Amino acid sequence: MVNCGVATFIMPDNVTVPALIAFGDSILDQGNNNYFPTFIRANFPPYGMNFLGARATGRFTNAKTPTDLIAEKIKVKEYVPAYLNPFIQDQDMITGVSFASGATGLDPLTSRINSAIPMMDQLQMFSNYIRKLHVLVGKVETGNILNNSLFLVATGSDDFVDNYFTYPIRKVQYDIPSYCNYLISKASTFVKISKIWF
Ligand SMILES: *[C@@H]1O[C@H](CO)[C@@H](O)[C@H](O)[C@H]1NC(C)=O
Ligand SMILES: *[C@@H]1O[C@H](CO)[C@@H](O)[C@H](O)[C@H]1NC(C)=O
Repeated sequence: MVNCGVATFIMPDNVTVPALIAFGDSILDQGNNNYFPTFIRANFPPYGMNFLGARATGRFTNAKTPTDLIAEKIKVKEYVPAYLNPFIQDQDMITGVSFASGATGLDPLTSRINSAIPMMDQLQMFSNYIRKLHVLVGKVETGNILNNSLFLVATGSDDFVDNYFTYPIRKVQYDIPSYCNYLISKASTFVKISKIWF
């Protein structure tokens, strides 16, 4: 998880990052939850009140998300689109998208409770995205983009807030340390599976 209050990004002058790709929950969701039925949404005021044209885009914030702020900081672009947005321009695809979905978690039960996109489904979307990149820029350039991009993952807080501390199911099965271990094992599976696309 990126804490924007204290995180410092210093990019060397001679390094360019071609794209930023995000996975996870509301911290990095750019509006994916607008595109399927869920109560976990941010496409109404006061969300977006300080955004361009005071638009509520589905970002869970008054203005830019950490996804946008980091993309801007590393000079990729000002706004990162939600992958499910049907109007993404080709150039915007090439410089990166977000698969994040508000209120998802590492525990598949969390995304089920909240009707959010499970982390594993976000990887499936990522594989579809790679196929689209192949069509847009070819396989070699896709490899270049993915090898040199910044990947962000922020997830895990909803597993506690909306799941463990709210519903009894996991509390019966796990104490807090063993639930943490369960989440860590899910995180490491996520990272392992994400690598098979390269
Ligand atoms: C980037 O710049 C640094 C500092 O000037 C230098 O040490 C490094 O070799 C450069 N890297 C590349 C890939 O040019
Ligand atoms: C990307 O990185 C992988 C693993 O290091 C490497 O095998 C592959 O050749 C790279 N692709 C490109 C296009 O640089």
